[in-house]
Amino acid sequence: MTTDPQVIPIAPGRLPLIGHALPLMRDRLAFLQRLRAYGPIVRITVGPKEVTVVNAPDLIQEMLTVKADEFTKGLLFEKLKLFGKDALPVAEGKPHLTRRRLMQPAFHRQQVNGYIETMRDTVTPAITSWQHGDVLDLKTEMQLMTQNTVMSVLLSARPHPEPAHAILQSVDRVFTAALRRALLPVLLLERLPTRRNRQVTTASRILRTAVGAVVAEHRANPDAYDDIVSLLLAVQDETGKCLSDDEILSEVIGLLAAGSETTAVVLAWLFYELGRHPGLEERLHDEVDTVLAGGPITAERLPQLAFTRQLVSETLRLYSPAWLVTRQATTSVQLGQTRLPAGTDLVWSPYTLHRDPGLYPDPLRFDPDRWAPERPRPPKGAFIPFGAGKRQCMGDAFAWAEATLIAALVASRWRLRPEPGAVVRPVGEITVHPSALRMAVAARHTTTARKAA
Ligand code: HEM
Repeated sequence: MTTDPQVIPIAPGRLPLIGHALPLMRDRLAFLQRLRAYGPIVRITVGPKEVTVVNAPDLIQEMLTVKADEFTKGLLFEKLKLFGKDALPVAEGKPHLTRRRLMQPAFHRQQVNGYIETMRDTVTPAITSWQHGDVLDLKTEMQLMTQNTVMSVLLSARPHPEPAHAILQSVDRVFTAALRRALLPVLLLERLPTRRNRQVTTASRILRTAVGAVVAEHRANPDAYDDIVSLLLAVQDETGKCLSDDEILSEVIGLLAAGSETTAVVLAWLFYELGRHPGLEERLHDEVDTVLAGGPITAERLPQLAFTRQLVSETLRLYSPAWLVTRQATTSVQLGQTRLPAGTDLVWSPYTLHRDPGLYPDPLRFDPDRWAPERPRPPKGAFIPFGAGKRQCMGDAFAWAEATLIAALVASRWRLRPEPGAVVRPVGEITVHPSALRMAVAARHTTTARKAA
């Protein structure tokens, strides 16, 4: 292997014509982790396309912060324009900055504190509807909860179970298509009228119809609402022009997509780990029973759930939902010692970074006590589940509050038990989700549950 930093090594195992497509298709999470051994920056190829993988935390930080203006969001986000080309997560340059400045105040920590009661009232009916002995598909259950939370907090909408399932399935479908198209970027395949491509068109239509109804209701009764849709409806640019319905739809769908599955898989993994570690589960129950003994979860009580938050941190570390984040160099750019030509496609992986043994001792062990106040913090740039810099997740405070709240509310009533003998694997699709996670519900006989909700 070369030691000249100007020459980026190419990962072994490349096959003629297809490059590294096979390991990427078969077990992409393991493949990406193996790449760490080949250096801070390494190249892989997928068919004719070459992709540069950045492994070192200092280089990732440089790319996301000080050099952020020299990169666009890259291949995956290009394909995620399927949700709407103007939405914040995929917008670039000035439109991105303007829209981010507009919406960011709705996601500030202080503002999120004002959402806690709505979050609680949205998820409580689902949690209290479970029966002792039920077996849940936990990922779907959590997805519906987080999707409903985004819809009720940000759009003042409460979809009934059937449309909620349809929205969920449509978001899933578009995500799957975007990832497939990013991993196998053959334009012709995307344009053929195949069954899959038709399904994507239908899914987009379902999403736009569902969200369109919410926007229409806001237009008809502007004084009845004070949420992100009202904000988008009221905005005017310097010439007095408002956003079109299509732009508003894209923005709202973008938030729904960015904010639902991510938090849901964190919760699914958190309960998976608790099912394997009864000692940690007991500590969670003790905390929840103590903090919520006085009454329901509120913005004041949430920060007292310190161990619950440690569990969320450790889940965000070990099962970072984002496993593939892309960028593209817009000019020739120096990253560390290496010069990258304009047009270089790059990826980095929060999932891989957080499992680096050089950054975390015994990295594969689920250990929430890494985050105990007396323990040293991880090195700078080593824990970035929400990214960093100007494209850092806008919903991070929202996600922290929501995940802590749902974990505590579930734990106040139930123990979730894994199916005996079930093998659960992490699968890297748009997020890292459990291959299948069916968990049995067992009632905890406490009085906290009634007070917490
Ligand atoms: C545990 C939950 C979540 C995780 C791990 C997560 C992760 C991320 C990451 C890594 C990015 C940056 C991608 C990049 O650098 O290219 C991002 C962007 C974003 N996220 Fe999240 N996210 C979560 C929850 C949410 C929630 C709840 C919302 C909103 C309700 C949200 C809205 C957004 C938006 C709007 C962006 C784009 C920001 C921009 O480009 O300016 N996310 N998220």
